[in-house]
Amino acid sequence: MTGTFEAFQISDRVFWVGAIDWSIRDFHGYLTDRGTTYNAFLIKGDQKNVLVDTVKKPFYEEMYSRIASVIDPSTIDTVISHHAELDHSGSLPALVAAVRPTNVLTSKAGVDALSQHFSLDVPVQAVPSGTTMELGDIRLTFHDTRMLHWPESMVSWLDGDDILFSQDGFGMHLASSQRWTDELNAELIHRETAKYYANILMPFAGPVSKVVGKLGPVIQKAKIIANEHGPMWRSGIEELLGWYNRWSERKPTRKVVITYASMWQSTATMARAIAEGAAQGGMQVALMGLDTAHRSDIAMELLDAGALVVGSPNLNGFMYPTVADLLTYLKGLKPKGLVGAAFGSYGWSPAALDQVQAALQEIKMDLVAEPLGVKYVPTTQDWQACRQLGKTVAERVQSLCG
Ligand code: FEO
Repeated sequence: MTGTFEAFQISDRVFWVGAIDWSIRDFHGYLTDRGTTYNAFLIKGDQKNVLVDTVKKPFYEEMYSRIASVIDPSTIDTVISHHAELDHSGSLPALVAAVRPTNVLTSKAGVDALSQHFSLDVPVQAVPSGTTMELGDIRLTFHDTRMLHWPESMVSWLDGDDILFSQDGFGMHLASSQRWTDELNAELIHRETAKYYANILMPFAGPVSKVVGKLGPVIQKAKIIANEHGPMWRSGIEELLGWYNRWSERKPTRKVVITYASMWQSTATMARAIAEGAAQGGMQVALMGLDTAHRSDIAMELLDAGALVVGSPNLNGFMYPTVADLLTYLKGLKPKGLVGAAFGSYGWSPAALDQVQAALQEIKMDLVAEPLGVKYVPTTQDWQACRQLGKTVAERVQSLCG
């Protein structure tokens, strides 16, 4: 494939040599409806050539071709592995076998993580946080960033070109022909950065916030953030830091997310009545039926929501499968500080309502009421109860928002 693809120069000494995955739609349960990229970087120092991470295994040839458009790949001296997850390390064995670098550098935990994935036939060496690597007239400094996104994760800073290689941090799943965020629609960039944070980093909001705080002065002087998914940042970095700070705090706003499954439209209509009550209580409502809304889009809406209200019919003694799917996903993401409530229609067993309520409790939501159940089809009295539930949720959110 050599000759097929070319590198993209991002600074005096650094080239993007990644791959664009236009087709991926499922990234561990996250709907990547605009594809993604796996960004790897070649640093062409005056004394050493360094490859910063690799790409997902099926894209090895594409990466190799881009590297070969700049240098003879066999002149790569060192490969840095910031993150052992396979979307960044999958091509490492093939690359190491092909170019025989002197070593692979990674964090202390990265040495273990890489050895538990591969048997690499070159030394894999730990670089303690804060150490530097001279590349002639420029140098790289390594920083551990535990849990952004795995325990072994680290980033590095390139003096001279002022680039932060941030691996998963500040990325987004977005395939595009443009390599810079400022060449794309600003609203799209905000949406995809938020969706990525919600679905990948929300469970680690505490550690991520600490890392971003600790690296704040470094990030603020970056001319480029070279993230490893989606377009890169050469402007808007201050604003990006503000987004990350806000999302890690997950401060509630006057927004209520109502999601549900329905068999014969009773639970669906209850959802609409609850939405009306919440709106009358001053809330912005996102009504997301699970027949059309994807779990990862609901997770994104929760980044700044004040409440999540979940409805399920009873199916053979259990909550509806799509509701169970969502709640399992959210238990893992651990959105903090949400007001919650459960509702739904049933025939002869209200078991699903208790299951939903128990799941919301597991997510540590502030539940404002007992589950609101309706037998078969709601009556006029039931509509009033639904609207009232919406208003009760709204009141609690208002009190949190001040
Ligand atoms: Fe893009 Fe955590 O890997």
